[in-house]
Amino acid sequence: MSICVITGTHWGDEGKGKIVDYLGSRADAVVRSQGGNNAGHTVVVEGEKYIFHLIPSGILHSGIQCILGDGMVIDPASLIEEVHMLRERGREDRLKDLHVSGRAHLVMPYHRMLDGLTEKRRGNDALGTTGKGIGPAYEDKVARLGIRVADLLSEKRFAERLRYTLEYKNAILHKIFGEQPLTFEKVYSEYKRLGELIAPFVTDTSRLVHSLLNEGKKLVVEGAQGTMLDLDHGTYPYVTSSHPVAAGSLLGTGLGPVHGTQVIGICKAYTTRVGEGPFPTELSNPIGEFLRERGGEYGATTGRPRRCGWLDGVVLRYAVRVNALSSLVLTKLDVLGGLERVKICFGYRQGDSMLDDCPLDFGTMHTCEPVYQEFAGWEEDVSKVRHYIDLPRQAREYIEYIEDVSRIPVAIISVGQDRPATITRKEIL
Ligand code: IMP
Repeated sequence: MSICVITGTHWGDEGKGKIVDYLGSRADAVVRSQGGNNAGHTVVVEGEKYIFHLIPSGILHSGIQCILGDGMVIDPASLIEEVHMLRERGREDRLKDLHVSGRAHLVMPYHRMLDGLTEKRRGNDALGTTGKGIGPAYEDKVARLGIRVADLLSEKRFAERLRYTLEYKNAILHKIFGEQPLTFEKVYSEYKRLGELIAPFVTDTSRLVHSLLNEGKKLVVEGAQGTMLDLDHGTYPYVTSSHPVAAGSLLGTGLGPVHGTQVIGICKAYTTRVGEGPFPTELSNPIGEFLRERGGEYGATTGRPRRCGWLDGVVLRYAVRVNALSSLVLTKLDVLGGLERVKICFGYRQGDSMLDDCPLDFGTMHTCEPVYQEFAGWEEDVSKVRHYIDLPRQAREYIEYIEDVSRIPVAIISVGQDRPATITRKEIL
């Protein structure tokens, strides 16, 4: 039995898409387990760029089962857009291996509206959500008002669920936000049409995953967002509404803590964050701008510029702990080339105290001052390097310090967007 969970170590956008695609060639199935189209996973194959928001990044390898798991919230219009994109780009044959959980929840039009309206009402305290309706969809799931993918397959049940929920949502839209209510007929007919398009993909994905594992197949679980955006373990309230940590990935796939699961942390060579919330190592200076421009740090989903800073080793150590990471994949090392000095934060100073872990109260994280280890940078362009030993000495020192801070090995190093731009020190799958 072989399960490999891929988890972002910081605030998302660590480059998980490329790594899942890279590992995909050795996997039999790739599963998305949480989140929805708030994610944006970029994969470049032979210079051609694909951005996936819902479909697992493994879809570009033939013969791999691609699964949208139980813990996801799925906007059916967005899913159908990705299905069309694959058809238009000559990848129609891959759709036979696409499977969507009947137990996943649907993102409805009122979720998108409420996401925007709630953010607006928060004013200066807005969270900076992606506006895709993800939070409100998970709210309904927990409130037991949600509508699931399987509900779409039965006209009667869908109509009943929608009528019940819509009445409640319209009251909120109208009475709290002064908006026009949504009409049942409009939402019903739009979702009925989308349901017909999605129906061929819907199945019991948890059962599918178990039977694949029983056949000895290899499974990659593609986490979305990152550890610090986890609802319980992240920088609450500046988090997403699902569980990007490894345990959440298993839960959303329909798996227990199965023996033989390895959890791999995807860590960018520097740190970024999109949206509001604390970010101790943020650089509001020309180095931050250099990282943004050189690293193309603009949201794959919203196009927003990402906040950039030095690698936060305290957060990394925390991610190792809460995810039970066994090794790291370091991404975007090439972006740092050309900087005179590079830094890694190994502790925080908060008032008179030195912290080697995240503060108990994330509400105070904005008062944490990073304490850095400094290194000489390297001039060389490392994007063509394929063997660890060929990296500049300074880059190797940087990587080895990451291993010291995290206390786990860096197994793979990504030095460019394309599949071959990868240095493997230790095979993962
Ligand atoms: P939501 O997930 O749209 O509710 O947004 C909540 C927070 O998570 C915001 O700060 C978003 O910017 C952030 N977020 C959501 N999805 C991603 C992602 O895929 N990458 C990075 N940040 C994300």
